[in-house]
Amino acid sequence: MLVSPSLLAADFANIQRDVEMLNRSEAAMIHLDVMDGVFVPNISFGFPVIEAVGRYAQKPLDVHLMIVEPQKWVSQVRDTGARIMNVHQEACLHLHRTVQAIKDAGMQAAVTLNPATPLVMLEDILPELDMVLLMTVNPGFGAQKFIEHSIDKVKRLRKMIDDAKLNTLIEVDGGVNLDTGRRLAEAGADVLVAGSYVFNAKDPLETIHSLSKL
Ligand code: DX5
Ligand code: ZN
Repeated sequence: MLVSPSLLAADFANIQRDVEMLNRSEAAMIHLDVMDGVFVPNISFGFPVIEAVGRYAQKPLDVHLMIVEPQKWVSQVRDTGARIMNVHQEACLHLHRTVQAIKDAGMQAAVTLNPATPLVMLEDILPELDMVLLMTVNPGFGAQKFIEHSIDKVKRLRKMIDDAKLNTLIEVDGGVNLDTGRRLAEAGADVLVAGSYVFNAKDPLETIHSLSKL
């Protein structure tokens, strides 16, 4: 299992320390949550912070944009050094054009779905995507309760991807711990995002290790 710890739950006063901990961990990538106060009812951080994280990170940056009009910011995200750019389907009027722009900029393209958005919204774009991010909570905050319906949604997306013989990864985000992570893994998820479960743990390195073994 690939693990993408979310820095939203890190200590922002000691972000270099936390990034260096992730460098020593078995994390496959580092998840960065950008919020604009419009698409979601919260504001987190923007490009200067991602760029600063990138100066210390030895893992690929997985940037999750919870913002309106994400197509406006493709080159700024690229310039932070991000490897993966996640945009919400609900925020993109011309999703195909945005996905092409992300790939043309040299990044991997991922599309995120809110819990209430059906998988059918991805049917015609799936072959273009490097990854699909399924929200397993409503986006905007860390440490929320996992939405159980997500397990079935992951299973159905796994079948869509396998039936089409694609390599698209399934990432899940929100309420991930050892119990939900195990069930998400069984359902067919490839990448677990985990914020509070990692950073509030007594031993974050061991916690990342246990998630990566799922
Ligand atoms: C929520 C963010 C998540 C958040 C997850 O909107 O997209 O990445 O950090 O936090 P946990 O793992 O605590 O649910
Ligand atoms: Zn996220």
